[in-house]
Amino acid sequence: MSGGWREIADDENVAGYDQRMAGNLEDVAAAGLSVHAEADLVDEFAAPGATVLDGGCGTGRIAWRLAELGYRVIGADNDPRMLAHARAADREVAIKPVWLETDLAHVDLASVPDDTADVVLVAGNVMPLVGADELPASLTQLAKQMSQDSVLISGFGLDSDHLPSGCEVLALTNFDRMVTGAGLELRPAGALGRAALCWRLRRQRAPPSPAIHTA
Ligand SMILES: C[S@@+](CC[C@H](N)C(=O)[O-])C[C@H]1O[C@@H](n2cnc3c(N)ncnc32)[C@H](O)[C@@H]1O
Repeated sequence: MSGGWREIADDENVAGYDQRMAGNLEDVAAAGLSVHAEADLVDEFAAPGATVLDGGCGTGRIAWRLAELGYRVIGADNDPRMLAHARAADREVAIKPVWLETDLAHVDLASVPDDTADVVLVAGNVMPLVGADELPASLTQLAKQMSQDSVLISGFGLDSDHLPSGCEVLALTNFDRMVTGAGLELRPAGALGRAALCWRLRRQRAPPSPAIHTA
């Protein structure tokens, strides 16, 4: 796949990530919007103390904010350079995030104390950066980290103006098909309106009752 994170992000790009993001967030704040929109969204679906898997956590921008709010956070990312920044941020929080260096296609919470996530968050253009070829396996693996009450929340740019240069556009129809293929169903966003999309595990149909044979 071309246009994935590894093709786009050289060392310089990684080193400047937080600075570029801070610049973007200044614009967000100037527009009167929350600079913690992703964490605010998690807060709509879960309460402090819940476990959040931050898939493609990068430098820990959202993970640390969630930890400050009192969530148990597992940040997973396959780029050790990004994770090094996340670890180094080391803020004063009651429960520090756990960092997993792993591809989303292999993420497995069995290796950490919480073995399911109440919320799986995949934010900040991670889904298109994983790429259409790898996404079905990644979504299936993320769904395995969820219980029937969990939700997956994701957000990403839908056109090249809202994606890193070189990243391929991920059409929402394709994404919907992949998410459904991973056993998740779209959950009505309710009061959050259409801007927020989230999915939960599709409930398994009850197995057919066993046939009773009488002599
Ligand atoms: C644009 S950054 C977003 C970081 C963070 N979510 C944020 O919003 O600040 C994309 C991140 O996705 C990670 N990523 C891309 N593909 C991945 C994969 N297949 N498995 C794990 N992480 C991946 C990259 O390493 C990178 O840290």
